Amino acid sequence: MTNILVCGSDGQLGSELKAIELQYNNCNFIFTDYNTVDITDPESLNSAVDKHKPEWIINCAAYTAVDKAEEEVDKAFLINHTGTKNLGAISKKSGIKLIHVSTDYVFNGQGTEPYREDQDTDPVTVYGRSKLAGEQELEDNNNAMTIRTSWLYSSFGNNFVKTMLRLAKERPELGVVNDQKGTPTYAADLAKAIIQIVSDCSSNKTNFVSGVYHYSNLGQCTWFDFASEILKIKGFSTPVKPVTSDHFVQAAKRPAYSIMDKSKIINTYNIEINQWEKSLKNCLKLID
Ligand SMILES: NC(=O)c1ccc[n+]([C@@H]2O[C@H](COP(=O)([O-])OP(=O)(O)OC[C@H]3O[C@@H](n4cnc5c(N)ncnc54)[C@H](OP(=O)(O)O)[C@@H]3O)[C@@H](O)[C@H]2O)c1
Repeated sequence: MTNILVCGSDGQLGSELKAIELQYNNCNFIFTDYNTVDITDPESLNSAVDKHKPEWIINCAAYTAVDKAEEEVDKAFLINHTGTKNLGAISKKSGIKLIHVSTDYVFNGQGTEPYREDQDTDPVTVYGRSKLAGEQELEDNNNAMTIRTSWLYSSFGNNFVKTMLRLAKERPELGVVNDQKGTPTYAADLAKAIIQIVSDCSSNKTNFVSGVYHYSNLGQCTWFDFASEILKIKGFSTPVKPVTSDHFVQAAKRPAYSIMDKSKIINTYNIEINQWEKSLKNCLKLID
């Protein structure tokens, strides 16, 4: 039995891990959130590790309020930087494998080809800088891997998919930005990929290789394409109008280009990834 401590498990990704827990009878999950294990508090982490003796930690805990982070700089850095630093330290000290999750916002969004893991980072928001600072704490840690993901959605929590469905019911027409390209990621798919890595490494089917990896679904779209597909699948006739980013005043600048190259995680860990449209259909089956 492999003991896996999950931090931040009440969020989207953590909830998806809870949803698939029973499919993995060789894994013993210990699900924790802010009130049980605070990643910014080393004492809280130490006592959870002493108590549960995990071989793995999966970190789903994060400060994810991208716009609010422009004002709450200290809080964003405390959770995304110091919290990750604490996790890295305990993973090093106790020989625990750590899977940490980061973001496409570590790039400046000016790219034109899918971002590879070895490309230069250049975050342009507080959130992006705080997440990069967290990643950097794990750079020389052979027990740690960071998975950068993008446009995460789920049937749990609040996200773009749920917002579009709500607005399609409330409004006669939707205006959605058509000048930002990326790839949506169904958090259930990412959760499965993470557990496949844990499971395959624990059974020596594959070797753990530390470092940074990119994971999203396959394909690419704009937020306008994404919204149109959501409404089409759910049978809404509400018109969706493409608009430019300057229609929305947001505190944090959004990347124009956010597509990541997934070949490293596919090749290293034999991960199969769905096209974004297929995964969206799977998720929407679970949302009324
Ligand atoms: N959402 C996206 O579009 C997106 C895109 C790219 C990358 N990511 C990354 O993907 C990962 C998962 O994102 P998500 O959407 O699942 O996030 P989420 O829904 O915001 O969940 C994060 C969880 O962490 C908890 N948390 C906050 N501070 C904590 C602390 N000090 N100790 C323990 N738990 C704490 C939060 O609790 P509270 O709610 O009580 O604060 C929440 O339950 C994150 O690393 C995020 O940066 C997300």
